[in-house]
Amino acid sequence: MSVLSNTQRWGAVARIFHWVMALAIIVNGVWGLLMVAMAPSMSKIQVFALHKSIGLTVLALGLLRLAWRLFDHHPAAEPAPRWQQLAATLTHAGLYGLILAIPLSGWWFNSASGYPLQWFKRFNLPALGARNTDLAATAKNVHEYLFWLLVLVLVLHVGAALKHHYLDRDNTLLRMLPFARRKPHAEKESIS
Ligand code: HEM
Ligand code: HEM
Repeated sequence: MSVLSNTQRWGAVARIFHWVMALAIIVNGVWGLLMVAMAPSMSKIQVFALHKSIGLTVLALGLLRLAWRLFDHHPAAEPAPRWQQLAATLTHAGLYGLILAIPLSGWWFNSASGYPLQWFKRFNLPALGARNTDLAATAKNVHEYLFWLLVLVLVLHVGAALKHHYLDRDNTLLRMLPFARRKPHAEKESIS
């Protein structure tokens, strides 16, 4: 597998970004839902700190991924009606937006609540604004609603990937999976 993407397939870097981030985001989302239900304790503080550190890592990876995307090639879309290609573009843009907006809203909530912020106990990060109880309540809602919006967009995203694989039987999913090979016949079709 080459490092760079080409017109036919995603390269190693794009695939690693996709799957590492997908895993981190899903784990951190479930983690977030579970941690808010915990009774107050010392371990709850550690659990929150880990959630924030993973979320900040997602934010940093998201920025690196977007920078890489500007530099990397982009595989041509498999043949599909125009409305589906437009829907895919909008969904992907929405996912990129949420990858950045969810951690940023968490950081905003943390700042407005006046909590300190560290990345895996390695270094401190600054507050995004002064402490403000009203803003903290808004930011908390924004963080939570953006997460549920992500879940909704992901249902469409995963549904579309499975439709391409099982109904259209094209290479859309195979060319993004870590070790899968393209179907040779579909490759010929999409080249012609
Ligand atoms: C991948 C990124 C992230 C995801 C998917 C995520 C998701 C979530 C979810 C689902 C919740 C539970 C919401 C609820 O039911 O009330 C939550 C809570 C929370 N998140 Fe995040 N989060 C992310 C990043 C961050 C970051 C970067 C920070 C801070 C720097 C942060 C701070 C918090 C805090 C403090 C809460 C608790 C809110 C409360 O007290 O109710 N999150 N997050
Ligand atoms: C939190 C989870 C996920 C996020 C945030 C996410 C995000 C994204 C983004 C932003 C892209 C566009 C890549 C680009 O154009 O640069 C993409 C592509 C893709 N994703 Fe996901 N994804 C997630 C989970 C999944 C899952 C679970 C599947 C499969 C079942 C999947 C299948 C795909 C496929 C096949 C593509 C390539 C589409 C194409 O070549 O046009 N994704 N994903």
